[in-house]
Amino acid sequence: MLIIFLAASPVHALGTQYVTLNDGSKMPVFGFGTWTLSDSQAEELVYTAIKAGYRLIDTARYYRNESGVGRGVRRAISEGLLKREEIFITSKLIPGYNPDEAIDDSNKTLGLDYIDLMLIHQPGYNDEEVYKALERAVNSGKVKSIGISNYYTPEEFERINRIASITPAIVQNENHIFYQNNDLKKYLERYGTVIESWYPLGGRGNTHELFNNEAVKKIAASHGKTAAQVIIRWHIQAGYIAIPGSKNPEHIRENINVFDFALTDNDMNIIAGLNQNKRFEVW
Ligand SMILES: NC(=O)c1ccc[n+]([C@@H]2O[C@H](COP(=O)([O-])OP(=O)(O)OC[C@H]3O[C@@H](n4cnc5c(N)ncnc54)[C@H](OP(=O)(O)O)[C@@H]3O)[C@@H](O)[C@H]2O)c1
Repeated sequence: MLIIFLAASPVHALGTQYVTLNDGSKMPVFGFGTWTLSDSQAEELVYTAIKAGYRLIDTARYYRNESGVGRGVRRAISEGLLKREEIFITSKLIPGYNPDEAIDDSNKTLGLDYIDLMLIHQPGYNDEEVYKALERAVNSGKVKSIGISNYYTPEEFERINRIASITPAIVQNENHIFYQNNDLKKYLERYGTVIESWYPLGGRGNTHELFNNEAVKKIAASHGKTAAQVIIRWHIQAGYIAIPGSKNPEHIRENINVFDFALTDNDMNIIAGLNQNKRFEVW
């Protein structure tokens, strides 16, 4: 995976790293997750995140906050914090609806002219039809990149990939230090498909288990960083894209402060050894 460093500017003085996707687009390897945020919280916290240097925002039709996400981004653009092409917006659609209408509706609700990445939110009865609609949206410029979410095995991935004209650029899955998608990651290397981690910190209600892990605490102390920062840094160095969510502006600023240190090979090996194949969700 190719990761490039962009020169720091006053707007993102903390720095942001990008990965080149298999379709040639550049996607930040770190961003802001908006699940459980209301529309008004999303507006305020997306704006806060952009101010802190975030350049990737993750939403979904299912979260019912695309409108707030769009308002937060447009506010930042109107204040000159960044240009539309400098922010990467992901949304997702759940199978079961008319996919062409759903894509148009997401675009309209976000109000940002196009969507950078749109994913099938989860497997469903017409997901192959949904993927074909996503391909049409790429061809008409409504969406730039496409992928899938909650497909955990090579077989599940191939069920979509075998009918695809555009190889999925991203697979967004539950992925964290206790549930590492190692086998899928290795399999996807042949396609240049990148895994994006949802629940990068274990998810709401579970973070204490990850933050209080003795090995994580020790590594954090050795770098003068928090457990959350060490875990986020692990995702990035392991080749994943991390999108931690938060309702706390202090946490939002803390979580992006991970580009001024690096975990050692030994740190990475220790964290690789924490894998327990333990998921916190069942979907
Ligand atoms: N595709 C899918 O099916 C799917 C499923 C789930 C999630 N997602 C996406 O993935 C994103 C990330 O998942 P998530 O938000 O559910 O879980 P997460 O990022 O793993 O964890 C969020 C939890 O971490 C806490 N937190 C964040 N930063 C912290 C810090 N620095 N110190 C202490 N606590 C901290 C938050 O509390 P505070 O609010 O107090 O900071 C919140 O309780 C979602 O927002 C969503 O965009 C996708």
